[in-house]
Amino acid sequence: MERDQQLKSDALKEILKYKDEVESDPYRLHYHVMPPVGLLNDPNGFIQWKGTYHLFYQWMPFKTGHGPKFWGHYTSKDLVHWQEEPIALAPSDWFDKDGCYSGSAIIHQDQMYLFYTGNVKREDGTRESYQCVAISKDGVHFEKKGPVITLPNGYTPHFRDPKVWQGKDELWYMVIGAQKENLEGDAVLYQSHDLENWEFLGSIMDKDLSLGYMWECPDYFELNGKGILLFSPQGLKASGFNYQNVYQSGYVIGDMNEQNKLQVQKGFCELDRGFEFYAPQTMLDEQSRRILIGWMGVPDQDEDKQPTIDHKWVHSMTLPRQLTWKEDKLYQTPVKELETLRSKMVNHSDLELDVNEQFSFELENSASEIEAKINSEGTSLLEINIRDNVRIIFNSNQKLFTLERKSYVDGLVERRQCILDHLSHLQIFLDTSSIEVFVNKGEEVFTARFFPYKGKDVRIRSIGEKKIQMEVTCWTIK
Ligand code: FRU
Repeated sequence: MERDQQLKSDALKEILKYKDEVESDPYRLHYHVMPPVGLLNDPNGFIQWKGTYHLFYQWMPFKTGHGPKFWGHYTSKDLVHWQEEPIALAPSDWFDKDGCYSGSAIIHQDQMYLFYTGNVKREDGTRESYQCVAISKDGVHFEKKGPVITLPNGYTPHFRDPKVWQGKDELWYMVIGAQKENLEGDAVLYQSHDLENWEFLGSIMDKDLSLGYMWECPDYFELNGKGILLFSPQGLKASGFNYQNVYQSGYVIGDMNEQNKLQVQKGFCELDRGFEFYAPQTMLDEQSRRILIGWMGVPDQDEDKQPTIDHKWVHSMTLPRQLTWKEDKLYQTPVKELETLRSKMVNHSDLELDVNEQFSFELENSASEIEAKINSEGTSLLEINIRDNVRIIFNSNQKLFTLERKSYVDGLVERRQCILDHLSHLQIFLDTSSIEVFVNKGEEVFTARFFPYKGKDVRIRSIGEKKIQMEVTCWTIK
């Protein structure tokens, strides 16, 4: 207990010590969840309870690198404005001394239960993994109850990130990210009557996917009668436009059979096509919406070169997105509450761009939302240049959608791309150093950090063979 309080108080001192430094960063975001100091990674324990949304996060308060993680905590009434809460978990016990790693939250008998991985590193460099529980009556102060699951046979200690839910049969289920002894990634399932005793049901998959060496942060839910397993596999090689980041996040769909095995119907599909996106977590809110938040970062991907490190903080969360299942695909749209952030609006209706014609406007604020409705029949090439740093390009001839940015490491242009049949709609959220592009109302999403020195220009050009008709609306974000 003493150690727990000591660690939490040291972390709070760290926040106070660097408050001015952190807040003076021009790249500090305006409407995204960030760490008060230090490093933030995965969203954890995302849940709504008695109207309030709770979002916990992997947090290293003492440096802008990884280490023994805490669970930081924010709450919100509307998924838009977030309030910092007392630290939920500190790595203070024998079973979590090297990190209270990722996990999830459920409500049972008017208490909040957090399930997380206790990470323990041995002196010889190997590790131990315990799935632990902590309970709270008020959703703010948590009492650790210790491990409920130890490592099963057939798996290495890369065994973590429990996501718990209640099945239609009223039983509790837990899916955990794992590495098999043959060093292939997997996700395993447990079942429980009482949240304390857990029965091991083996892999959640009905057959091997052979997808990488480790699956992190699995999440299982059903949408429109489909079983969907989200996970973040490590060890996939880039292939065409796919798997361009160091690690991936995506999903498979299928039917869960009577033996609790997912019969996969379609191959692994990436959730986000941008540069920074990893370890998302979903929850079902009180309006029965399936909402996802991801980490706007990727482990080991030039994390130590992010410019905000000079100001003692690094990384943020994505905006919350609502998931729907449409035309054999997961669609992701920004939650509608984000519209309450819109302030001054400028609308350009009936824009007609001739070949090589350019239309430009200046953002009043680096935190802005831009919506573009696009009508271009025939072959066209549309280019949107934002703040001299990011470029969105759609080539309808090649059916190719591109997001380019100037790398924050060396300033060179780098790109992420995907095949897209047509482009009719763009919704772009800009913050001081981030961009989230929702393509065709959530058919594809591109998320990225970018660090423009100056410039508030948005330049739209048609450089194809056809003129492009569009309507562009821009809102300043409060
Ligand atoms: C994913 C991850 C998880 C782990 C956590 C540690 O980014 O590696 O697997 O629980 O981060 O911070």
